[in-house]
Amino acid sequence: MNAFTSLPSFELDDKILMQGAEISRRLNQLRLENFPPSAKKTLRPFSVAEVAHYLGVTPSNLKRLYLDGKGPIPTTVGSRKQYTAEQMWELRHYLAETGKSEAKKYVPQRKPGDKLQVIAVVNFKGGSGKTTTATHLAQHLALTGHRVLAVDLDPQASLSALHGYQPELDQNPSLYDTIRYDDQRKPIADIIQPTNFPGLDIIPANLELQEYEYDTPLAMQAGSEGKRFFTRFGKALLDVDERYDVVVIDCPPQLGYLTLTALTAATSVLITVHPQMLDLMSMSQFLLMLGNITKTIKQAGADVRLDWLRYLVTRFEPQDIPQVQMLGFMQSMLAEEILKTPMVKTTAISDAGLTKRSLYELDRSNFTRGTYDRAIDCMDAVNFEIQGLIHRAWGRM
Ligand SMILES: Nc1ncnc2c1ncn2[C@@H]1O[C@H](COP(=O)(O)OP(=O)(O)O)[C@@H](O)[C@H]1O
Ligand SMILES: [Mg+2]
Repeated sequence: MNAFTSLPSFELDDKILMQGAEISRRLNQLRLENFPPSAKKTLRPFSVAEVAHYLGVTPSNLKRLYLDGKGPIPTTVGSRKQYTAEQMWELRHYLAETGKSEAKKYVPQRKPGDKLQVIAVVNFKGGSGKTTTATHLAQHLALTGHRVLAVDLDPQASLSALHGYQPELDQNPSLYDTIRYDDQRKPIADIIQPTNFPGLDIIPANLELQEYEYDTPLAMQAGSEGKRFFTRFGKALLDVDERYDVVVIDCPPQLGYLTLTALTAATSVLITVHPQMLDLMSMSQFLLMLGNITKTIKQAGADVRLDWLRYLVTRFEPQDIPQVQMLGFMQSMLAEEILKTPMVKTTAISDAGLTKRSLYELDRSNFTRGTYDRAIDCMDAVNFEIQGLIHRAWGRM
């Protein structure tokens, strides 16, 4: 007799359907425990030091204001003063309106003639840090006084989940409602949702977004509307152009019609890349494919001019010698186009992710001080660098 008993075979569909259903059930249970569907996301208060940092004033300046009873009055908790994010927003307007002409910088929004900035965060590799980057960039821009719209284009909806919109539990709208080809199309204003960050709205994602990938080839056969699929998002954005300064798009990890539509709407592109050989190889393939497809849609009339394109190194480990070498290699090739600050790998981000939060939502007291401060300092440096590019596109230095 054979010493090995052969394993019983099984049907693939039965197996994965059963396991998929079980995992989904258990995940929902976990989510319900951590974040009941009725719960609305709130935002923690901000310390005087944080408010001063995001406003660009000194803490002693702030102190003088509230001691004189000027502007919004912070709450006292123990021996500390705290502002809500709404008060931070009020404070900006107070400073801009009561200060001299340069005080306008406290509300750094678009002026007449400044173009809406639309930033697409792309790379077709999952796990390259697109969602983490898009989330923190959008929130940072809102904390520094910009009116921001974050758009989740990934049917997996991670950016939505980080903002309290969970596709499995909620009936979220998505951009599909606005760019679909049939008569069920809705105005973009109807699908925009608020977030817990003042100044930041979101268009959530859901699985239905994937339909755009199937509808578009059919629409292309049917006529000119389909052939110009890439204009649908940019056109929809015109309806809410006045309401925002910056749009941040979290693209799906694939080079499909959704990504091409986002890239055509974009005024700038941020490519996230983890500094490892396989990731860099995959990125070079992505660039070549993207370049060729872009040539094709350009011939069909797509406007693909950009104000800037940058590479952001993500999950960087400075102790990892091969990563340091890879970073050097990339810097030597990409020079100007690679952001000066690489985003370091930090447990603060992975920890925050477990409860569907960003670094900006975390309370410093939940971490060892060094861990939190290093993470937030690095994230702020990345985001202030991108903000500089946005302001430069508006002609400010
Ligand atoms: N700087 C970082 N430090 C630690 N973990 C990170 C960092 N950036 C991203 N991650 C984690 O890596 C995973 C993939 O990141 P994500 O932003 O979702 O990538 P993508 O959207 O490209 O698939 C997530 O679990 C995220 O929490
Ligand atoms: Mg993602």
